[in-house]
Amino acid sequence: MSGHPDIDALVEEARSAVASARTTEDIRAVAASVTGKKSPVAEASRSLGTLDPDQRRERGRALHEARAAIEALVEERRSTITAEERASQLEADRIDLTEYIAGTTPGPAGRGRPHLVTQTRDELEDVFVGMGFEVAEGPEIETDWFNFGALNIPPPHPARGMWDTFYLDLGVPESTLLRTHTSPVQIHLMEAAVSTGGLPIHAVMPGRCYRRDTPDARHLPVFHQIEGLVVDEGITFADLAGTIEVFTTAYFGPDIHSRLRPAYFPFTEPSAEFEVTCTICHGEGCRTCSQTGWIELGGCGMVDPAVFEAVGIDTERWSGFAFGFGIDRCAQMRHQIADLRALTENDIRFLRQF
Ligand code: PHE
Repeated sequence: MSGHPDIDALVEEARSAVASARTTEDIRAVAASVTGKKSPVAEASRSLGTLDPDQRRERGRALHEARAAIEALVEERRSTITAEERASQLEADRIDLTEYIAGTTPGPAGRGRPHLVTQTRDELEDVFVGMGFEVAEGPEIETDWFNFGALNIPPPHPARGMWDTFYLDLGVPESTLLRTHTSPVQIHLMEAAVSTGGLPIHAVMPGRCYRRDTPDARHLPVFHQIEGLVVDEGITFADLAGTIEVFTTAYFGPDIHSRLRPAYFPFTEPSAEFEVTCTICHGEGCRTCSQTGWIELGGCGMVDPAVFEAVGIDTERWSGFAFGFGIDRCAQMRHQIADLRALTENDIRFLRQF
């Protein structure tokens, strides 16, 4: 019965053809073959004319329903395929960001690491922790009292000119500022120790500092210092000098020398400047060390009795020393970075060297 095939059989054939379609391409081809002009349903419709009117009407209606059923099968399969294809495309495009964070997959920029300044700060802390110091921190926004007053630098003191200060405009002029050094953390620690009976103190205090300086090869307006403070019984200048010496060789290696030169700071007496051999030119003299062969890392000295009095520490019983030096400068000397500004430029080609 080639001219008048069994209609149920037509639908069943179409059903298995539709079920075998796997892709958008397949379903498009199958749709043409089961509902198109040359499809068995279309051909069966064309041969209706050879039937008598009653048979024609009945078979015509059945063919119409069969075609609708086949079209529904095609549409159902098409939407399943579309959904599957979309899901597998999403899966293929998926990026697991946590893999980059965990460092298990090399990301577009490679595996990240702490900034050189952070690495340097960590190493400095390690050296001092190894020498028996604790690590403490203090605020970056300070009052005049902590940054200057308690450090024996009362308001019109000419030594204030040593620190070009960023003041915050909070009503009372020049009362609040961005700390110009980490020395105010000494005051916080000593005040806390006095009120809790926490003496002696052996602590280092790293942190960010601010000065109204023009950036150049050795200066940044935002920089980092690490402060040291020892308050104990019987502390002498020899303890200070020995601590600086042990630190220098532990951090820079045995071939780098340090020297202390007499200096003045209002909060230490006597005071010294702490310098190390310039590692850029090995002491020959270069642009980085202004042709001196030495790089100043910071200052130090015996805690001035006026500071102990400001925080209420008994100067008959306690003595101490303090030092403060640049973390960025340490990184510069250790890694021979000619210009400190490289530390703030975030050039990945520079940063990934460390
Ligand atoms: N705070 C001083 C500065 O930044 C350095 C210093 C710290 C000097 C401790 C003496 C004692 O210039």
